[in-house]
Amino acid sequence: MPRAAFASIGTAVPDRVVTNADLVALMETSDEWIQQRTGIRERHWVKEGEGVADLAERAAHRALEKAGWQPSDVEAIVFASIQGDHVFPGDGCYLQARLGLPGVPAIDIRNACSGFLYGLSVANAWIVSGTYKRILLVGAEVQSTGLDVSTRGRDVAVIFGDGAGAVCLEATDDPGRGVLSVHLHADGRFAKELSGAAPGAIYHPRVSVQQIEDGSVFPHMEGQKVFKHAIVKMPEVMREALEKNGAQAADLKLVVPHQANLRIAEVVQKSLGLRDDQVFNNIQKYGNTTAASIPLCLEEAVEARGVQRGDLVGLCAFGAGFTWASALIRW
Ligand code: ACO
Repeated sequence: MPRAAFASIGTAVPDRVVTNADLVALMETSDEWIQQRTGIRERHWVKEGEGVADLAERAAHRALEKAGWQPSDVEAIVFASIQGDHVFPGDGCYLQARLGLPGVPAIDIRNACSGFLYGLSVANAWIVSGTYKRILLVGAEVQSTGLDVSTRGRDVAVIFGDGAGAVCLEATDDPGRGVLSVHLHADGRFAKELSGAAPGAIYHPRVSVQQIEDGSVFPHMEGQKVFKHAIVKMPEVMREALEKNGAQAADLKLVVPHQANLRIAEVVQKSLGLRDDQVFNNIQKYGNTTAASIPLCLEEAVEARGVQRGDLVGLCAFGAGFTWASALIRW
């Protein structure tokens, strides 16, 4: 049976850097509060007219170039994004058109911060089953245009950034390489704890002036509940992946946790008993980029930690739904 191997990673972020000091000009907050609670120093936000598909296209071209693929080598696109450029269709199809791939299937995944790993699970299954051999897996997000940047929305607004990461996944028969397993979970009892209410099909009309005024169009986050669940579920699902493959935390060359919050990542590291050199974080520069955060961090981490072919790499995520997930990969 073939395995899915990471042939390359390409990333893209908007040029516009928004520092904590820039946010102080918009809302009652401080660089100290943001850094202390989240570790974030700055993030990248799109400029007007720049969207999810733009970032995804840039990341995709970089990944294709690094893998030595032509766009026409892509047999399927798996696109993870919580909220696309438009209500529908998802940006998988927009990206497919931009890459000039009529006929190539494009699936959209909406599992928020776990979206990249949910997408990896789909792509991995397609490769293992022999359905496709070369898949472009993308995590891309524009959060900034949906944030309440007044003091009312400060608990959420300071956390999120925009970005994209694309991975070329290829089938390999090499037993020493590729995705070993992916583990997915959800608990919809907590759906409202991290959610965006409107616009929604349940409302007539789908969005009202009142909803715009009362903030229902902005993300709602029960921050402490998210925190408490994330620090339990991320280590738990990473352990599930290790156990499934008869591996120990000490065997891991690298772990890239979803970049939700630096404090969450630090608790996850401690809970798993990982050394500093086994974990990599870059939320300080990008904020939480939801479905893009793992590829955006993984590209830098592989370089920074000197990951070599055959090294064991762990990925884990937690986000809206609640959803959580992990993957173990032989690099
Ligand atoms: N600047 C200054 N003060 C703020 C800010 C801000 N940006 N935001 C909130 N505060 C205030 C609050 O109003 C509160 O004030 P009060 O004590 O006068 O009422 C005080 O700071 C403390 O608020 P808490 O909510 O208790 O702060 P906490 O320590 O819990 O930190 C945070 C908040 C950072 C949101 C934390 O709960 C957290 O990290 N949660 C996890 C969030 C997360 O990772 N989400 C990612 C998942 S996203 C996804 O899946 C799509």
